[in-house]
Amino acid sequence: MTAAPSAQQTDTIETADTVDRAIDSPDEAARKARESTLLTPRFYTTDFKAMDRIDVSPLRAEWDTLLAEYEGDNNHDHFQRTPAFAEEARQQMAQWSPELRQEFLDFLISSVTSEFSGCILYNEIQKNVTNPDIKALMRFMARDEARHAGFINQSLKDFGLGLDLGDLKRSKAYTYFKPKYIFYATYLSEKIGYARYITIYRQLERHPGKRFHPIFKWFERWCNDEFRHGESFALIMRTQPHLLRGANTLWIRFFLLAVYATMYVRDHTRPMLKDAMGLDATAYDYEVFRITTEISKQVFPVSLDTDNPSFRRGLARLFDLSTRLESAKKRGGVVGRLQQAGLAVQGLATFARLYLMPVHRHALPQQVRVAPAW
Ligand SMILES: [Fe+2]
Ligand SMILES: [Fe+2]
Repeated sequence: MTAAPSAQQTDTIETADTVDRAIDSPDEAARKARESTLLTPRFYTTDFKAMDRIDVSPLRAEWDTLLAEYEGDNNHDHFQRTPAFAEEARQQMAQWSPELRQEFLDFLISSVTSEFSGCILYNEIQKNVTNPDIKALMRFMARDEARHAGFINQSLKDFGLGLDLGDLKRSKAYTYFKPKYIFYATYLSEKIGYARYITIYRQLERHPGKRFHPIFKWFERWCNDEFRHGESFALIMRTQPHLLRGANTLWIRFFLLAVYATMYVRDHTRPMLKDAMGLDATAYDYEVFRITTEISKQVFPVSLDTDNPSFRRGLARLFDLSTRLESAKKRGGVVGRLQQAGLAVQGLATFARLYLMPVHRHALPQQVRVAPAW
């Protein structure tokens, strides 16, 4: 799991003293990982009994092929740090500006947290179900996410800021989602994770001089894990066609918008990271949306019109409002709080306008699986 979305739109108000603190100690890194705002990755729990009742037999052949891929484990040797990795990281870090260092640390912390979020959720499902198909799948996915989280955490340790994942598991808040919301949100999070990693990988393949940390070399094989995790949820949803039609398409639209908007605002608050890779945050985000939308046609009968100028203006406005909200938090006091409330209302209204925009509609393909061809 990568970018974790949230359907709970209310608990974003932080106290002024937690805004914009430098990540310069293990305690601060741990606090950042525990943080629950609209933009930070969350931990999830769900209804295990309902998970137990999933019946994949309508797509048995495709399911078995997918499980055989997990069994084959073609990335078992991928997430190993080499001495060359550590040396390259050490040399490159010494050349960064303090701002890039902060943005990269923020990126590493949110990435470990969302990878670990997937690990915990899949592992909990695995422990609490008896359904052999779901148990096997969840065990494989938890294995992958544990590797991903551990691998990123090693890079945090280079800064002396490694996270205590056991402590994070105990101390971070959990959000309950019923299974269908887990499917929509997690499917999207896996596929958008793939699209993000492959877009960065391709950019740095073209411009190796912009690869400012060795971890990006790992993204190509890594993102295929995320792609496969997404395929698993695609199959699960396609065995329950009612999740993909009627009133549920309103939920699908909601999750698409929540995930895209969260990513847009988050990426624009970390512009230096994209800049260092020679990417423009806006162009990068729309490329990621384009890829994700293309892939998601395997399950979702609707997609957002991300090329529509009004849609683009709406996302830009959300980012602007979020920047002003941060300033109001820093200001604090009664005026700051009133400003925050006003901006939150405007943010909700902008989100609602985006939600109500016309969408593209498509028939679902006969063949569910898609190849990671980007
Ligand atoms: Fe994943
Ligand atoms: Fe992952």
